[in-house]
Amino acid sequence: MNRSTVERIYSSFFADGLEAIMKQALERSLTSVTVHECGKGLIVYSSSEPLRRVKALRFFRNTFLLLRRLNLPEGSSVDRALKTLAGDGETGVMVQRTGVGLRGTFRMIIAEGSRLIPAKPASIESVERMICEATGLRVNRSLPDHEFWLHMRSDGLMLFSLRITRHKAAEQALEKGELHPEIVDILCRLSDPQKGELFLDPFAGSGAIPIARASNFPCCTVLANDGDEEKVALLKTKMARLKLQKHVVVRRMDALRMERYQNECFDKIVTDPPWGLFRKLPFAPHKFFGKMLAEFCRVLKPGGRVVILMSREHPLDAIRANAAPALQLSSRYDILLSGKKASIYELTKRVPEARREATATTAKGVAPRATLIT
Ligand SMILES: C[S@@+](CC[C@H](N)C(=O)[O-])C[C@H]1O[C@@H](n2cnc3c(N)ncnc32)[C@H](O)[C@@H]1O
Repeated sequence: MNRSTVERIYSSFFADGLEAIMKQALERSLTSVTVHECGKGLIVYSSSEPLRRVKALRFFRNTFLLLRRLNLPEGSSVDRALKTLAGDGETGVMVQRTGVGLRGTFRMIIAEGSRLIPAKPASIESVERMICEATGLRVNRSLPDHEFWLHMRSDGLMLFSLRITRHKAAEQALEKGELHPEIVDILCRLSDPQKGELFLDPFAGSGAIPIARASNFPCCTVLANDGDEEKVALLKTKMARLKLQKHVVVRRMDALRMERYQNECFDKIVTDPPWGLFRKLPFAPHKFFGKMLAEFCRVLKPGGRVVILMSREHPLDAIRANAAPALQLSSRYDILLSGKKASIYELTKRVPEARREATATTAKGVAPRATLIT
C-alpha cells in the first residue's frame, strides 16, 4: 500500500478554550481529516495525509500518534493503567508496527491533563520492557530520541501514544515574555492573513508575532514596533539575521501615539500588549487600554481586523465600548495560558454606511492601498 494513504489516528493538545478554532484550523489545513473528539484542550482525529504534514501543523502545542485508546473504570490509578497497558496484546502489536522506523532510545511519560504524574517504578518498567521487546529501542529517561506518553483522563479514558512533535518552546529557547509559537500562529490565523496586506504589531517585544506573520503566511508588509529602545535594537538585528528585513520594518514607537502613521492605513493589527502583571502600566489600565484601542481604531482601515491577546484581569469589552465603539467585537476566546487566565479578542472596524454604499456602486472597485508616512 502507498504509505501516504495509510490512515493514522492522532491526538493534539492546545490551550483550553480554543476548541472551535482548532477544529476549524485543522479542517482547513488538511484535505483528508475526520475529527473524532474535540474538547478541553485535546483533539483526536484521523487523517491519511503524510505524517510530515501533520507534524508541520504549527497551531498545536504537541501532536501524538495514537497507538491505543483504553477505557478504564473512572478513577483508576496510574499503576492500574500501566499494568493494563503492559499486558494488552493489541498495544504490543501497535507499538511493534510503529516501532519499525524508530531507532535509538525512548522514555515513558505519564500525564493527567497538562500535569506530569509519577508512578511506581515497577509499573513503568513493565511498559518499558514491552516497548523494548516490540521495537528494539533502549530506555533513556533523561535525553531520549522518542517519547511514549500515557495520557490519563479523569473519566477513565487512557490514551497511549508516540509523540511526533518536539518541545518547540524549549528548543527555540524563548526569550523572556515571548509568546509560544502555537499561540502566535493562532493569533495570526484569526486575523485572516491575506497577500499584500499591511500588518502591524505595535507591542512587538521579541518579534514573535511579526516573524511568524512574515514567515508562515501569505506575503505582506509587516510593521513591528515597540516602545523599548533595547528591544527595538535587538529586533532589528534579529530581522537581519532571519533575512526578513525586506518584509518587516522595525521601529521604536509609543503604541498609544503613532502619529507617524496616517489614519486608516493598516489592514490588520495583531498584538500582545503589556499585561500589567509583572510591571505596572504607566497609568490606570482602563486609560492605557482605552488610548490603545482609540489609536488602533484610528490607524485601521474600515473593515480591518484587530486581534489582541490580553490578561483577563483587564476585560476589554467595556473599555472598547467607550474608547473605540467603531471597533466591533467579532469573537472573544477565554483561554488558559501557562496557567494564567487570558482572552483573545477579535475586533473588526465598522465600515460607515455611506462608504459601504459607495463601494457597492463602484463595481469591481478594489480599495486603493494606503501609503505609510515614512
Ligand atoms: C507582552 S510584551 C509583548 C511580547 C511579544 N508578543 C513577544 O512574544 O515577545 C509587551 C511589549 O510592549 C512593549 N510596550 C509597553 N508599553 C508600550 C508602549 N506604550 N508602546 C509600545 N510598546 C510598549 C514592551 O516593551 C513589551 O515588549
